[in-house]
Amino acid sequence: MAATLELMEVSVTFGGVAALSRVDLAIEEGELLALIGPNGSGKTTLLNAVSGQVRLAAGQIWYAGRRIDHLPAYQRSRLGIGRAFQQVNLFPGLSVAENLRLPVAARLGLGWRVWREAGGYPEVNRAVDDLLREFGLQDKAGVAVGSLAHGEKRVLDVAVALALRPRLLLLDEPTAGMAVEEVPRIAELIRHVHEKTGITVVVIEHRIDVVKALAERIVVLYDGRVLAAGTPASIMADKKVQEVYLGGLYAQRD
Ligand SMILES: Nc1ncnc2c1ncn2[C@@H]1O[C@H](COP(=O)(O)OP(=O)(O)OP(=O)(O)O)[C@@H](O)[C@H]1O
Ligand SMILES: [Mg+2]
Repeated sequence: MAATLELMEVSVTFGGVAALSRVDLAIEEGELLALIGPNGSGKTTLLNAVSGQVRLAAGQIWYAGRRIDHLPAYQRSRLGIGRAFQQVNLFPGLSVAENLRLPVAARLGLGWRVWREAGGYPEVNRAVDDLLREFGLQDKAGVAVGSLAHGEKRVLDVAVALALRPRLLLLDEPTAGMAVEEVPRIAELIRHVHEKTGITVVVIEHRIDVVKALAERIVVLYDGRVLAAGTPASIMADKKVQEVYLGGLYAQRD
């Protein structure tokens, strides 16, 4: 089976310190994969390497049959690689709907023109309305993002990434900083989006209950290397994983 995303012996270093060391990873089209591991194990760096925010020291990354590790981030985005960041990445002064108009307009090739004719472009309005409905944000359409609750910002951040209609969606801790009661909503949304669109999703998530409920396969990073990969059940039963991850190291975080 052809992998939609393949990392081959990928290494990334920061000032001589290895953040990723010879990581091999193949992700199939349509898979929902969770990436876990202790703080500093290289999870965000791995997503950055795929989306083009960091350069490789060695190795190759292939996506949909093309080598992409030499491409700038915007070209990878055009190839269908979408990204949400560990820190929410929205325009706080703009409304919820306006934050969605930007990527929708970009996808439709309209760019900044939509701002000169606010209210025009029915296809933009339609796509924004669909997203608002799908993500349960209709009531917040006109609200400035800066005044949203943190959980709503997280939901919007995922919606913004999806507005570009990626084929591969990379989510960096979408539940970070969320109140416990808000977590099921975003987990459910990710599952819904994955089922409905069939896109490939890689999600970094440190809440083990969410990971178990969401992911078909889990990859565990430790010290910049792949420690284990497999089904949630096999990962939970893995002795090495239990030592570094379930043994308390990671649980201290919250
Ligand atoms: N831009 C950077 N400059 C220097 N060092 C960096 C940079 N980004 C990451 N690192 C280092 O690389 C290693 C991996 O960091 P990374 O952010 O990928 O870990 P992580 O698994 O996402 O951690 P967390 O769970 O805290 O988000 C860490 O040692 C980190 O300090
Ligand atoms: Mg991180």
